[in-house]
Amino acid sequence: MALSHASTSVQIPLSSKGLVVLGLESSCDDTAAAVVRRHPDGQIEVLAEAVSGQNEAHAPYGGVVPEIAARAHSEKIDGLARQVLETAGLKSSQLDGVAATAGPGLIGGVMAALMTAKGIALGAGVPLVAVNHLEGHALSPRLTETLEFPYLLLLVSGGHTQLVIVEGVGQMTRLGSTIDDAAGEAFDKTAKVMGLGFPGGPAVERYAREAKNPERFELPRMLARDKSCDFSFAGLKTAARRAWDSLENPNDADRADLAAAMQAAIARHLSERTRRAMDAFKARFSGEASPRLVVAGGVAANGAVREALQLEAEKAGFQWLAPPLKYCTDNAAMIALAGAERLALGQVDGLEAPARARWPLDADAAQKAPASGSGRKGPKA
Ligand code: KG4
Ligand code: ZN
Repeated sequence: MALSHASTSVQIPLSSKGLVVLGLESSCDDTAAAVVRRHPDGQIEVLAEAVSGQNEAHAPYGGVVPEIAARAHSEKIDGLARQVLETAGLKSSQLDGVAATAGPGLIGGVMAALMTAKGIALGAGVPLVAVNHLEGHALSPRLTETLEFPYLLLLVSGGHTQLVIVEGVGQMTRLGSTIDDAAGEAFDKTAKVMGLGFPGGPAVERYAREAKNPERFELPRMLARDKSCDFSFAGLKTAARRAWDSLENPNDADRADLAAAMQAAIARHLSERTRRAMDAFKARFSGEASPRLVVAGGVAANGAVREALQLEAEKAGFQWLAPPLKYCTDNAAMIALAGAERLALGQVDGLEAPARARWPLDADAAQKAPASGSGRKGPKA
């Protein structure tokens, strides 16, 4: 399905140097800027990149606080833009375009990058590209790999859990999505309950490694009878909280056992649903000799999740790929890349392009099966 996009079409002169695009990102809790060059043969070169996280600012609250995030983005974004242009040795007038995440995400944050990008584009007299953050994630493996379309993408982060067929720029079909929380949120909330701090995923993984009795807590198998590729994590989260509350004077050994149970349950659910999506992908692209599964998003950093998905991919005859960690999590190189790809297709946006809290990758699928997705960053798809 074509990604709903109100961009206009223009003729972009393709020089032998390709297209150089500044990308800006501020839709959640990472402020980021990057410059990439898209060579005429489609190869991508990251010329400069910088990211500023906000974990310390949100840690006391155990989750991202929208107002704090928006302020931090506004303070950081223009400095980061200047920094990457300097590193790349470029003036803004030498850019072929400026791309920014225009959604989905926390609206106050999204506006910081988008408004900055509009200012730079206007000042430099170059086109603006309003990028869908999810399209950035979907294309991110192409920052480091020559990856042919189509491929199956599992995007699994603190705000998203979706399975998407990526057939081309703007050509994405959503096979499934979370009906409640995102997987990263389940990690974060469980960590919060056990007093492990924020972000919770890495802490849960650390504790799980120390578990003496990983089978001790029995957590439910979500959507066991459901034949779709959707996900659900809310029940798991509640079951983990109940298990924790039932303990008297819980200690680190209890934390480790429950962390291991939660991690295993999330990994199992992700791999079961991805297995279904791989079957659907194979049925649709039966000619693909070596189908590919790409896993992106912060949760893809988790060793147990990676192992479970890798095993499942192997069983289904899929090649497994995950972008390097810095491109798995939120970054601006993927936004610059998506912007450069759109620019190469002559798709640009006017300065009236809106910031959107919601912007589904596949508008048709979202219409047919709206997912509530009440994640810590609000409903997204
Ligand atoms: O992609 P990301 O940086 O930001 C968005 O949410 O968009 O993902 C952050 C999420 C958080 O929920 C964090 O707890 C989770 O990814 N995460 C992990 C690990 N590292 C990050 N979850 C499990 N295990 C990890 N090692
Ligand atoms: Zn993201």
